This record gives sequence, structure tokens and C-alpha cells, in this order.
Amino acid sequence: MPTINRIKTPSESEVHMTHLVLPNDTNQLGNLLGGRLMHWIDIAAALTAMKHAARVCVTASVDEISFNEPIKLGHMVHLRSVITRAFRTSMEVKVDVWREDPLNDSKAHTSSAYLTFVGIDQYGKPLPAPPVEPENDEERSLYEEAAIRREARLRYREQIRARRG
Ligand SMILES: CC(C)(COP(=O)(O)OP(=O)(O)OC[C@H]1O[C@@H](n2cnc3c(N)ncnc32)[C@H](O)[C@@H]1OP(=O)(O)O)[C@@H](O)C(=O)NCCC(=O)NCCS
Repeated sequence: MPTINRIKTPSESEVHMTHLVLPNDTNQLGNLLGGRLMHWIDIAAALTAMKHAARVCVTASVDEISFNEPIKLGHMVHLRSVITRAFRTSMEVKVDVWREDPLNDSKAHTSSAYLTFVGIDQYGKPLPAPPVEPENDEERSLYEEAAIRREARLRYREQIRARRG
């Protein structure tokens, strides 16, 4: 029987998704809606967290997302989602987004986002997450930097709480 909390590599839970931008996904300028892209990012990241933890996971937070250039009607949107690190019960997932024009073979990176997920039981109680074992230099960098991002997130939350009393 598989052990749920065995150490896992990022590649075991990596997710790739591709969408075609349709009229219902766009604003008046024919550009992909930011909210639609955020939904796709959340789904890709949730699948990675759930594959890694082998349980139902909820989104605890989404860090800043920048939209570096518009994605147009008719473009393809590629998402790649990888787990960077697991802490006690929380997991950080990075999602990269590329747009591709299928008619002229141009491709560009448009967004990156970091999201935090927590695996929960049937009562919504957080459960321990399996550790992550990075396998290459990129994964090792993301793993180390995840601790810095987590510290910044927790510090920010504490400062806001303390300020409001
Ligand atoms: C996320 C959630 C399960 C955390 O539960 P909790 O009772 O606050 O549990 P804890 O305080 O022990 O936090 C659990 C972990 O989540 C992390 N966490 C909680 N809130 C966080 C936030 N806003 N950002 C980043 N991490 C967060 C904690 O740091 C902790 O991590 P660790 O165990 O690795 O140290 C709970 O807040 C929840 O269910 N939120 C709603 C989730 C949801 O519905 N998402 C969809 C949005 S519509």
C-alpha cells in the first residue's frame, strides 16, 4: 500500500494544461480576462497540490500575479504547475503561463504566480503534507526561495494583525 506521506519529487505532481482563448474568455478589447486566467492558474495549482498530497486541498493564498502582456482571442494558453516546497501542512505551488499564437508560431512567457495550498480532512482540519525532494538546480532554487517567500507572507500577516489589534 502506498505511504501517503512519503517524500516526493516535484516532477511527480507537475501539471501541464492548455486552453484556447474563446470569445467568452475575453474583454471588449479581445484580450483574455485576468479573472479567467486566475481561475485556470488556481485549477492547475490545485491539481498539483492534490497529486502531491494525495488528498483534497484548498487554496490558502495567492501571491501577487502580474500580467506582462495581453493574451488575445484565438491564442493558446499553456500553464505549467510545479510544487516548490511543503512545510508542515501547507504547500507552495508555482504556476508559469505562456501564450502561443498557433497561426504564426510565436510564444511568450506572460505570467508567474505562487499559491499556497493546504490538504484537509473531512472536517476541514489541516493535515501534514509529504516533504518535497528537489532533483535539479531550478527545483533546488525554488525550494530554498520558498522559505523566504513563506517568511515574508507570515510576517506580513502578523504585522497586519498586530496593527489592527
Ligand atoms: C487554509 C485553511 C485550511 C487553514 O486552516 P487553519 O485552521 O487556519 O490552520 P492553520 O492556522 O494551522 O494553518 C495551516 C497552514 O496553512 C498556512 N496558512 C494559513 N493561512 C494562510 C495564508 N493566508 N497564506 C499562506 N499560508 C496560510 C499556515 O501557515 C499553516 O502552514 P504550515 O502548517 O505549513 O505551517 C483554512 O483557513 C481554510 O479552510 N480556508 C479556506 C480555504 C478555501 O476555501 N479556499 C478557497 C477560497 S474560495
